[in-house]
Amino acid sequence: MRIIVVANANEGGKTAAQIFSQELQNGAKVFGLATGSTPLSTYRELCNSDLDFSDCSSVNLDEYVGISAANPESYAYFMHQNLFAAKPFAHSFIPNGMAKEIDEEISRYNRVIDEHPVDLQILGIGQNGHIGFNEPGTPFDSLTHKVALTESTINANSRFFDDIRDVPKEALTMGLKSICQAKHILLLAYGQNKADAINKMVNGPVSEELPASILQNHANVTVIVDEEAASGL
Ligand code: GLP
Repeated sequence: MRIIVVANANEGGKTAAQIFSQELQNGAKVFGLATGSTPLSTYRELCNSDLDFSDCSSVNLDEYVGISAANPESYAYFMHQNLFAAKPFAHSFIPNGMAKEIDEEISRYNRVIDEHPVDLQILGIGQNGHIGFNEPGTPFDSLTHKVALTESTINANSRFFDDIRDVPKEALTMGLKSICQAKHILLLAYGQNKADAINKMVNGPVSEELPASILQNHANVTVIVDEEAASGL
């Protein structure tokens, strides 16, 4: 893993946007995208740049089950607000959490991933080491699947909702195997509350108990962390 320590999230966003730019110059056509507060500074830099994604595709990691793309808390809405409105892609894929037939939606999304091999995948990390919504205990060979969110993830995500009871309890997520098919993975983490997960991801055993530790087995991973998130390394 290549680890880049930056002063803060703003600097991290600039560094990440440079990596997007290099990948575009190298011919990348498919970008794997993530939500959460962590990628926001990167998306801000991309929006303010002259980079053009209009002949690229994006494939998002995950979406809550049971809330529509029109709901401001949905990841579809988040992506539109924070990136796609300013930087449209030719095609943008995100799991449909409102699908009536969840199994069919899961198969559809696995086909999307197969047909659009990701060149650069951006990732955040949960405090318990989850990536996407792959909670501890998720098999390393998992593809897209439905997950029941853990209490710690529901609590962490409740800050975006008026009431913790409004936080969805389930989500659709790309699996760990799907994520690791990306040619280059760019994981971002800022703040003290990510320090333990980052230390275990980099130095701990490769274990399904810390989903992000699977990245130790990937040949091309870049990690951008601020000093607080790097403090346990
Ligand atoms: C959610 C998302 C993850 C994200 C994580 C951390 O669980 N599904 O993709 O990495 O939250 O979020 P944040 O970046 O806001 O700390």
